Amino acid sequence: MAKRQTAAWTSGAGLSARRSNLFLRLLRFARNDVSRNSEKHFTHLAKLLEIEEAEEIAQFKEFFLNKTPEERELTGFALLRLAVHEIHYSGAGHMLLSFKYQIKKPIPLYSPDAGDLVTVAPTGSALADNFFATVYEKTNEIITVALDRHPPDWFNEDELYDLSIAGNRGSYRKMREALKAVATQPHGRLAFLRDISLGIKKPESYDTVKPEDIAFLNSSLNQWQKEAVVMALSSRDIAIVHGPPGTGKTTVLVEIIRQSIAKGEFILATAPSNTACDHMLECLVKEGVHALRLGHPARIMENLRDHTLDFKLAHHRLARTVDELEAEMERLEKQRGRRRDRGALSRIEREEITDRLRDTKQEIRMLENQIFAEVIEKAPVIIATHTGASDSILRRKKVNLLVMDEASQATEPSSWIPLLHAEKVIFAGDHFQLPPTVISKKAEDRGLNRTLFERIHGLVGDSWKKLLRVQYRMNEKIMNFSSREFYEGALIADESVKHHTLADLPHVKHAPETEESFIFLDTAGRGFEEALEPGSESRFNREEAAVIVRHLNRLLELGLKPQEVALISPYSAQVRLLSSMIEFSDLEIDSVDGFQGREKEAVLLSLVRSNVEGEMGFLTDTRRMNVAMTRARRKLFVVGDSATLACIPFYRDFIQYAESIGAYRSVWEAT
Ligand SMILES: Nc1ncnc2c1ncn2[C@@H]1O[C@H](COP(=O)(O)OP(=O)(O)O)[C@@H](O)[C@H]1O
Ligand SMILES: [Mg+2]
Repeated sequence: MAKRQTAAWTSGAGLSARRSNLFLRLLRFARNDVSRNSEKHFTHLAKLLEIEEAEEIAQFKEFFLNKTPEERELTGFALLRLAVHEIHYSGAGHMLLSFKYQIKKPIPLYSPDAGDLVTVAPTGSALADNFFATVYEKTNEIITVALDRHPPDWFNEDELYDLSIAGNRGSYRKMREALKAVATQPHGRLAFLRDISLGIKKPESYDTVKPEDIAFLNSSLNQWQKEAVVMALSSRDIAIVHGPPGTGKTTVLVEIIRQSIAKGEFILATAPSNTACDHMLECLVKEGVHALRLGHPARIMENLRDHTLDFKLAHHRLARTVDELEAEMERLEKQRGRRRDRGALSRIEREEITDRLRDTKQEIRMLENQIFAEVIEKAPVIIATHTGASDSILRRKKVNLLVMDEASQATEPSSWIPLLHAEKVIFAGDHFQLPPTVISKKAEDRGLNRTLFERIHGLVGDSWKKLLRVQYRMNEKIMNFSSREFYEGALIADESVKHHTLADLPHVKHAPETEESFIFLDTAGRGFEEALEPGSESRFNREEAAVIVRHLNRLLELGLKPQEVALISPYSAQVRLLSSMIEFSDLEIDSVDGFQGREKEAVLLSLVRSNVEGEMGFLTDTRRMNVAMTRARRKLFVVGDSATLACIPFYRDFIQYAESIGAYRSVWEAT
């Protein structure tokens, strides 16, 4: 049969036409199949996005309709009865309103944060009476919001106001548009990158880069980091830098960016959060790279605001001229109105004023364009969050290289927003740390928290992904459990951190508590029961909190500084409880999610769960535990109930690991 077919294929002239016909049909069929697959994938994502948005709106409504203002405040979604403290302006010209509580008291830890969109409404008023603003900064007692325009006429400095989180609807629209563009792109770079992401095409290389060809700008890169840089520079399309905690992903990206600048390329650097963008900006600025940060200055760290587009536009040498021209326009318009009202405007005068107005307007537009072009032209690197990367600038300029930091924290729809502009992309992330937060359980279960990073990591061959192996953060004992459970034991602690302890810090005294690097304190059998916080449905454990505070006080007694310690718990109710027990303002207390990407000399971790049913909730996602443990540089102190924890093999391993290195303690001996 096979033979006959071969013969038929190769005999007769008319066959070649038939063959090519068949070939075309096959190709069309394959193409249809490809586009069908692609369509299916992106339609599915769009559907998930819809579910997520609906959930966000529903939750939001619930907060407003079903909760009392006081409940909203307790759950961190509102601040009530604030008095106007000051009306002023930011360096970039935004109007700022500062508020403080009418009665002197601090702004709670969980409350609208810098960058959040909020509504401002008179206390006790109907919800319709409000205006939008963006939280600009928050200190212990003062919260400041930025306005895009003047407040409405009814705004009165002597009244009291409520601030409520209003969410951010624009980002859904951007994600939807991005998905549509990707799904329907017939050819070009975007279509090629999409097809790689679907496993239809394979990444290609330039084959021109050899390690010895590269003059590394950062001379301290380790072997694996160098290999990652070489890989990134050789890639034509896509490459993945897989970096477990503290292994220098951002360091590698900075080197890739600098190498790329040296080649005269234009780079877009993105991350899902403003914090991660700021971190990248900080690292680049430290290396003397001229980077431009897109985004509302309110969402950007104060010491970095000089690098924002808004600030640079406002401080350009021609900005004053624009201001003067705008004032001139205002003056002309007023003059025209006044004289018209008095009936004292002749036709010639009217035409003259109209001409002057038109010319001034044109001049302003020209100057603004010039300012914009000059500011953009100067920066070889633009930094933005994924949703901030849809700016018109990026439509004007070809992005030779896109680097995405914390890519394992970004949902796929959001990742496509910057990808729309990219010729080539380098991802950095770690899919064994926390995935992006998805609000809707349904959307999560159907895969909205499965990242593009993770999918591509599973698709591309080894030549397009590099694991960074040396970590520069943790004492070896803190590292080893994570290394074994998540990274096949591949991690190596750098000599500089391998054995470091709190006692090595010059200001810290020697004692068992500062010499040991890892302790698991087991509360089993002491009746430290978890409890549900009324109103928030989150959990806390009072006795566990007391144990944590006792250990904290001991460490502080031994000389550790509050800013060197973090108290972490997966449960926000426990975070609130701990915060209420502690007076140091520079000691950070937060959820695991809030600490991702950060580090502290000592981490005290309260696992909270203790119940006879063995219910583990949040703790079942072991990636959360991976993040929590790996924030610690010199000391990790974990408190939990082994009887509850042991329901999950991961925690059984954890307890065994603690025992195997002599780090297991029972609360019976410790108290
Ligand atoms: N090759 C290296 N030699 C020494 N220190 C390094 C090296 N690479 C990274 N580091 C340090 O390790 C820490 C973590 O690096 P970073 O790039 O922020 O890691 P990640 O992005 O993976 O969290 C930083 O303090 C950084 O300066
Ligand atoms: Mg990083």
